Amino acid sequence: MTMRAAEIRLPGVPPVVVEREVPRAGVGEVVVEVLAAPVTPLDLLCAGGKSYLGVPRMPYVPGVQGVGVVDGRVVWFPTSAGMEPGDGSMAGFAVVRRADLVELPAGVAPVMVAAAGLSAVAAYMAMVWRGGLVAGEQVVVLGAGGVVGQAAVQLARSAGARWVVGAARSGEARARAAAAGADAVVALDTDDHMELVGRFLAACDGAADLVLDPLFGVPAAAAAHTLRAGGRMVTLGASAGATCPLDAAVLYGRSLRLSGYTNKELTGVQRGDAVGVVAGAVARGELVVTHEVVGLGDVGEGWERQAGGRAGGRVVLVP
Ligand SMILES: NC(=O)c1ccc[n+]([C@@H]2O[C@H](COP(=O)([O-])OP(=O)(O)OC[C@H]3O[C@@H](n4cnc5c(N)ncnc54)[C@H](OP(=O)(O)O)[C@@H]3O)[C@@H](O)[C@H]2O)c1
Repeated sequence: MTMRAAEIRLPGVPPVVVEREVPRAGVGEVVVEVLAAPVTPLDLLCAGGKSYLGVPRMPYVPGVQGVGVVDGRVVWFPTSAGMEPGDGSMAGFAVVRRADLVELPAGVAPVMVAAAGLSAVAAYMAMVWRGGLVAGEQVVVLGAGGVVGQAAVQLARSAGARWVVGAARSGEARARAAAAGADAVVALDTDDHMELVGRFLAACDGAADLVLDPLFGVPAAAAAHTLRAGGRMVTLGASAGATCPLDAAVLYGRSLRLSGYTNKELTGVQRGDAVGVVAGAVARGELVVTHEVVGLGDVGEGWERQAGGRAGGRVVLVP
C-alpha cells in the first residue's frame, strides 16, 4: 500500500510531495495514521542543515510531532525526524515508538493539539517546572504573539497567575497576545533599551516574578528590569538576538535567577505528562493558538510561508 508524504531532498529547500510505501513497524513500534502534523521552528531548523543538529540524512519525511489514530485511539506522538535517521509525521502514516504515544482526551480537536504541541509543552514546562511558577504570581511573556507565547499567556493564567503581561513585535502579534488574554501588551517595535524598560514597567502591576523568554536580545534585557528581588527569567529561544545586553547591576542587585530551557531535557514521562496538560487545556477551551490548516499536497507552499513568517499562526498539515 502507498501513501502521500512530504519529502526533504536538499538542505534548505522546502519539501516536495511524493508517493511512498506505507512504513512497517519494528519491535516496540506502531504505525500511526496521521491526522495532523505541524510545521514548527524545529522542523525548519533540522531541514535547513545549518544548525548544531548537523545535516540530516536525505531524503527524509520531516515532522517531529503529530496527532494520529492507532488501534482506534487518538494519540499525540513525537518523532526524531531530521535529528536522527528516519521519517516523521508529514505523511499519511508514521512509525512511532509505542512508549512515546500519548492518548488524548475524548473529543479534543486533533488540529489544535497539533498546533500547540511541543511549543505549548515548552511554554508550560519552562514556566512551571524550570521557572517554578505558582498561583498568585505576575508573569511577563515575551514573543507573546508566537505559538510559544500565546500558549504561555493562557497556561500562566490556568496556573493561577494574577497578572500576565505579553510583549510582541508586530501589530498582528500584539493582537494575538491580547486575544490570548494578556492583561497588558507591550510593543517591542524598538531596540531602544530604556524605552522598552519604561514600557515594561508601565505595563506591570508592581514587580514581576517570572519572565518567559523565547526572544533574548534587547527585549529580554529590558524585561529583566521588571523582576523583583529573586525573580526568575527562563530563556528558551533567541528570535530577537543570539546575545543579550543585560545590565549586571540588575542581575546581581536583585539576585535574579536566570535559566535556560529545552524540551530535549525532558524524560519521556515528563514530556507525556506535559502533553497531557496541554491537551487537557485544549479540551477545556483554555488553550487556543492561531493556526492555518494546509493540505499535505500544498506542503511546499505552507512550509515556505511558515519559514518566512507569513503564515497566519502555526501551519498544520492534514493528509
Ligand atoms: N527550547 C525549546 O525547547 C523550544 C521549544 C519550542 C520553541 N522554542 C523556540 O521558541 C521560539 C518561539 O517559538 P514559536 O513556536 O513561538 O515560534 P513562532 O510561532 O514562529 O513565533 C515566533 C515569534 O517570534 C517573534 N519574533 C521573531 N523575531 C523577533 C524579534 N526580532 N523581536 C521580537 N519578536 C520576534 C515573532 O513576532 P512577529 O509575529 O511580530 O514577527 C513571532 O511572533 C523559537 O525560537 C523556537 O525555536 C524553543
